[in-house]
Amino acid sequence: MTGNEIREKFLEYFERQGHTRVRSSLLLPANDPTLLFANAGMNQFKDTFLGLEKRDYVRACSSQKCLRAGGKHNDLDEVGKTARHQTFFEMLGNFSFGDYFKREAIQYAWDFLTGSQDEGKLGLDPSRLWFTVFGGDDEVPADDEAAALWEEVSAKPERILRFGRDDNFWQMAETGPCGPNSEINYYLGEHPEDPNFNRADLVNGPGDTTMEIWNLVFMQYNRVEVEPGKYKLEPLPKPSVDTGLGLERTAVILQGKFSNYDTDLIRPIVDFTARLAGRNYDPETPEGFAMRVIADHARATAFSIADGILPGNEGRNYVLRKIMRRAIYHGQHALQLVGPYFFFKVTDFVVDLMGSTYPELEASREFIKRIVRIEEQRFGATLTRGLQVLDALLSPLPKGSMPPYRELARLYDTFGLPRDLIRVILQERGYKVDETEFNLGFNDALLQIQIHQAATGSKPQGFAKVKPVYQRFVDRKCEFTGYDETRTEGALIFGLIKGDQTVCKLNQGDEGEIILNRTPFYPEAGGQVGDTGVLVSANGAHLTVHDTFSPLSGLIVHRVTVDRGQLVHQEIPPQWGQSLAEVKVIAETYPFPEFVTAQVDVEKRDATRRNHTATHLVHAALREVLGGHVKQAGSVVAPSYLRFDFTHYQPMTDDEIKEVERLVNEQILRNVKVETDIMPVEDAIRAGAMALFGEKYSGMMRVLTVPGFSKELCGGTHVRATGDIGVFKITSDESIASGVRRIRAVTGFDAYERFREDELLIDQVASSLRTSRAELPAVVGKLQDELKKARREA
Ligand code: SER
Repeated sequence: MTGNEIREKFLEYFERQGHTRVRSSLLLPANDPTLLFANAGMNQFKDTFLGLEKRDYVRACSSQKCLRAGGKHNDLDEVGKTARHQTFFEMLGNFSFGDYFKREAIQYAWDFLTGSQDEGKLGLDPSRLWFTVFGGDDEVPADDEAAALWEEVSAKPERILRFGRDDNFWQMAETGPCGPNSEINYYLGEHPEDPNFNRADLVNGPGDTTMEIWNLVFMQYNRVEVEPGKYKLEPLPKPSVDTGLGLERTAVILQGKFSNYDTDLIRPIVDFTARLAGRNYDPETPEGFAMRVIADHARATAFSIADGILPGNEGRNYVLRKIMRRAIYHGQHALQLVGPYFFFKVTDFVVDLMGSTYPELEASREFIKRIVRIEEQRFGATLTRGLQVLDALLSPLPKGSMPPYRELARLYDTFGLPRDLIRVILQERGYKVDETEFNLGFNDALLQIQIHQAATGSKPQGFAKVKPVYQRFVDRKCEFTGYDETRTEGALIFGLIKGDQTVCKLNQGDEGEIILNRTPFYPEAGGQVGDTGVLVSANGAHLTVHDTFSPLSGLIVHRVTVDRGQLVHQEIPPQWGQSLAEVKVIAETYPFPEFVTAQVDVEKRDATRRNHTATHLVHAALREVLGGHVKQAGSVVAPSYLRFDFTHYQPMTDDEIKEVERLVNEQILRNVKVETDIMPVEDAIRAGAMALFGEKYSGMMRVLTVPGFSKELCGGTHVRATGDIGVFKITSDESIASGVRRIRAVTGFDAYERFREDELLIDQVASSLRTSRAELPAVVGKLQDELKKARREA
């Protein structure tokens, strides 16, 4: 069974069990500072487990791209050494959001693994399977229930084992949803019937013969930080299920292999690398080790770049750089692949191999190639510099002396010299390297450096947290009316907030926040800034809205100042307030119903609309002019300008800028109607809609189409027809990071103003030189010549 067939079988099986198939999220986690990379299928559902986000399904399944190369789950140092560890892998998972729990999770897993292949299951031999459950500790009791449920599906009691927190309690990061888990392990050896071989002590034990394949997590808690470094478990609103079945490991079993690197998912990349090096793959040799590392790292690199992560000096970008440099170093040193770069060829082969399953790879083929080549080029220079510093460091030291770990760690940190390379060089130069001491000393020195960096703020720390007060409104869905109107009457107050508290009054002069059941105010999202405007209450209170934002999905918060009067709010039942009929009942039942008329600042909103639709046009135009590798890497859509960041490796030429402007203005002059459809996100992506990096998509989504030119998933507000934009002008183009460029542009009145200002400037210069606009270049040229002459004479 091929890897592709296993992936499909899994997803089809769970679809038959009522699960919605959900696309893998990007490796770049959406708005989650606790994560470096997507590290499990459950990441994209984190808020759903926490009860902060509601989805229109309660069961889901996915095949998730994962990268475990930093943070809580890090397998980087094991890659190539064991038969199992990879940085990049695919995780198959089924999820229940407060729907089914342990019993069904265990029943499904058993059925899918041991059921007949004729019925679309895997047909594995139960006598090779082992099951582990949480053995309990001071904080969480033993999971006897899971053990009993395994027996219920007919697992043998002696094959059900108990383990502690390290193995049987799963958490995504230091904080977040977590719970006891139950792992399924598989004995791969040749003697399943012989208890001397197929043994309990190999489960979570030595060697690769018995391996974990599937992890069922019973999500029951949220781990929160109560004070720095101190955590506590809080129960989740509803117990849920998160599972992860390793695709490569499952392929090992079904393809009769021993190592993940021998499956059809990875072996072709190992063989490709071997061919590049002109050697055969021998798994036992240092060269074989290098080929495995390169194959794994090439997958991690290609997928990361396609998902918008570029090599750099901080955070996840730094981790990617480390991965790439390690691969390049192994190629250069173990395989002598020193020629004019090789790694970009391997990553390109990954695109050949996996591009049909993951179209995002194919779409970014050229971009991946270029970025990898640039890194290979750069690292060549770094390697040389780092080696010089290392030489200078080592030459005064007598052989056999203790290597200066702190300085070595700095080489690693500053020059990106891989640790393995440092170790090899130390050995070559005759310095004794005791493995344990080297690692301990090195890690300690590295830790000191990192502590120093954190203390001096040279590496970024986490982001601000959402105020707990908003969680009181989790069940309140605010209806956004602003696609159709900019003024909404009769909106009902869901809540008033002052500081961190809900209040029942806001007085004249107060600053606070207000949540309404319906509002035309657009909350900041997808780069579009939040709306401003006014709120007027039925009893005459007058409020200015300075900003609108959405701290939790479905919740819209207006930041206000009370200019006049007083706003009163009476608590009403949370489930009320969605329909006009209910509003009427509330009006009759409650003594102080406060209705509000919400009026968006129309001029600003219109300007913002122009810039938002123009952002879509410029995105499409950039892709047309520069190539399909261009992807949005961030944007700001404000009333007075738009800013668009995108992946591209060099400055745009004047001709390219001109062509982008021309294309956008051409679309404006076509004055085509802008169409909006609402459809399932899967259908939208199938229909070719662009999805943006770092955004979370699920369920029904709005798709914005400028017919014949652009199609994007977007929740923002837009013009009715492209002609409304008026005119478009790029005002700057700069680089903001390696491979990322930023342009700013203006539209409508702001563009017109800019032309007026330019005109005024030209007129002023012309008049001070006593000439006409047409003559200006000639007159300036003449003046310059005269000045040169005068200088020469002087
Ligand atoms: N989140 C769990 C894991 O990563 C199960 O998917 O192992």
